[in-house]
Formats: sequence, structure tokens, C-alpha cells
Amino acid sequence: MFSSFGTIFKATTFGESHCPGTGVVVDGCPPRLPLAPADIQPQLDRRRPGQSRLTTERSEADTVTILSGTENGLTLGTPIALLVANKDQRPADYASMQQVPRPSHADYTYQMKYGIRAASGGGRSSARETIGRVAAGAVAEKLLRERLGVQIVAWVQAVGEIDAPQIDVLSVDRAGVDQSDVRCPHAESADRITAEIAKAKAARDSVGGVIACVCRNVPAGLGEPVFGKTEALLAQAMLSIPATKGFEIGSGFSGARMLGSRHNDPFVPKEGRLGTLTNRSGGVQGGITNGEPIVFRVAFKPPATIGQTQETADFEGQPVTFAAVGRHDPCVVPRAVPIVEGMAALVLADLALIQSMRR
Ligand SMILES: Cc1cc2nc3c(=O)[nH]c(=O)nc-3n(C[C@H](O)[C@H](O)[C@H](O)COP(=O)(O)O)c2cc1C
Repeated sequence: MFSSFGTIFKATTFGESHCPGTGVVVDGCPPRLPLAPADIQPQLDRRRPGQSRLTTERSEADTVTILSGTENGLTLGTPIALLVANKDQRPADYASMQQVPRPSHADYTYQMKYGIRAASGGGRSSARETIGRVAAGAVAEKLLRERLGVQIVAWVQAVGEIDAPQIDVLSVDRAGVDQSDVRCPHAESADRITAEIAKAKAARDSVGGVIACVCRNVPAGLGEPVFGKTEALLAQAMLSIPATKGFEIGSGFSGARMLGSRHNDPFVPKEGRLGTLTNRSGGVQGGITNGEPIVFRVAFKPPATIGQTQETADFEGQPVTFAAVGRHDPCVVPRAVPIVEGMAALVLADLALIQSMRR
């Protein structure tokens, strides 16, 4: 149950970092949706390791196979199983971590919880688990695009102390985001971010960052008061991504420093509906979408596994000097962009199907 996400459109991910394969079972996808590997692979390619010199050097093609749930290119309404093989495993890299829990990783907490853990590659706490989310998210996105015209675009807004200027949420697209390896659509910031990640990597260190995301053409009326509010489900979805530390929607934490007279979004007629002049609400009011773009941001910490030596303790409590070996991301945000998009799609597809039952 805790590897599943969603109520009607339900994704259950499986797999560890170094087992033969990882993936997802999507249950509740409506029938007769055109679906082929080509709908899923582009997002997996944007997530996969080894795509630039600024990501982990683990080399995986991450080719998806649709095992079930479609025939002749259409969904059947039955569970869709999506599988990606793990090929480039090097469990030996993790030998030192048998005795020493990595500071700020999940080795200690998994051991405490289960009394056992897949020590090679972090097991289920590895970002390999997010393959299933991205694959399921691509299916959800196809459904949202075909049935509602929804567009979801995420990008790298900040890395370390470098913050890109405000990006136009109405026009930003994936082609613009992918113009740089670091997935920041502002060219000058992308160059500075590239240098920042390269600097961290050269110092055998790591650096954090912020991903921003917009969901356009989301109809008004999605979201379930009171515990299934759109922003609450988005927050849960985003904070379940490994290495996330914060979520804010619309004005977010900056709204706390504003007066109501400045913060309110006045209503105006817009394209045959009631829209708002500004969008400090981030497209959600009372937990329900209002038809404006949903805009949110997710903070990611610097990844825990670094090559620098750290003073810490082993599982027995003995002080040790520890330096990780192996291949690791100096910054996760460029690869996390499609994960954020996928999780947003899962939330919105589920809410759209729930809302469709009311009609
Ligand atoms: C795309 C992506 C890649 C990641 N790569 C690494 C990595 O190479 N090394 C690492 O220590 N953590 C990496 N992480 C983060 C860990 O998976 C995460 O920190 C760990 O599971 C502990 O969970 P927590 O940080 O949410 O507490 C990555 C996360 C994402 C989303």
C-alpha cells in the first residue's frame, strides 16, 4: 500500500537500485487511450543517468517495455505493467556502506525500520525507484493531454545561490527547458548553474536546487475538500520524491510577508470564464483548481553521497572517517524535472477522474 499513489488512477512502483528491473503497475487508466512506448520513453530519457557529464556516470538505457494493459496500441482498462531493466549494477561500490550508514542518506533509517536493507545502491531509497513514477506519469500525462489539453512543464529555477529570473509560465515549454543540460530555460543562468554543478563535482561535493512547475489548461473544479485538496496532494506527491525538502504553491512562503490588499487575485472575465488578474493563489483556491495555471516550486537538498571525507560513526557507534566511492549525482535537479512533471500528472489525472464521476 505504501508503494502506491492515487485513488482511481493508481500507480504502484516496484524495484531496488540493483535488482534485475524496476517499474510500475498503473491500475485505473481508462480504456481506449492510444498508448505506445514512444509516449513514455522521452520522459525516461530525460530522467536517465549518464545523460550529461553533470549527472551520475551510471550508464543505463532505461528502455521501457509495456508488459500488459494494451492491445493494438490502445489501453484496455486493465492494469498496465511497465518494466525497465537495471543493467549497469556495481554492488561492490557499496561495500564500505555495509558497515557505515551514509550521513543524511536512508541507510540508517531503512535498517532501523526493517532490520535488513538492500545495501547495494540504496535499494528502494535510490532514485532508480523514480523510474516507475516517470513512466506512470507519462501515461497520466497522455490521458490529461488527450482528454483535457493539459500541459505540464517543469524547469530548474535555482541551484545553490544562483536563482534564474522569473520564467514566463504561460510560454515556457520543454524544448526551451532542454536547451541546456541543466534544464534551466534562462540561458545565462543555465551557464552559471552548469559551472556551479561542475565546481561541486570537482570538489567531490554536491549542491541543491529548486524546480518550478506549471500545469496549464487545468479545468476549474478539480480537487477534493478537505483532505484531498489539490495543493495537499501535490505537496504529498512532490515531498515523496527523494531528496526533496520543501514545497510551495503560488506566492508560497513569500505570501506570508504580504498584506491581503496586495496578495488578493481580483477576478476578471477571461476567454468566456471568470479568471484572475494575478495568480498568487497558484491556480488553487479552497483546494480546488480555479482554471488559472497551477504554479509550484520544489526544493531539493544537495545529494548525500559525496566523495569528500566526513567524520561520522559506523552502525556500531564507532567513529569513522568515511568517503563514498562510486557514481553519484553532484546535483539532482536536472534529472528530477521529469519526475516532478510525472508526479504532477499523477495527481491531476486522479483528480480529473474523480471529478468526472460527479457529472
Ligand atoms: C534524480 C535523483 C537522483 C539522485 N541521485 C542521488 C545520488 O547520486 N546520490 C545520493 O546520495 N542521493 C541521490 N538522490 C537522493 C537520494 O535518493 C535521497 O537523498 C535518499 O533516498 C534519502 O532520502 P531523503 O533525502 O529524501 O531523506 C537522488 C535523487 C533524485 C530525485
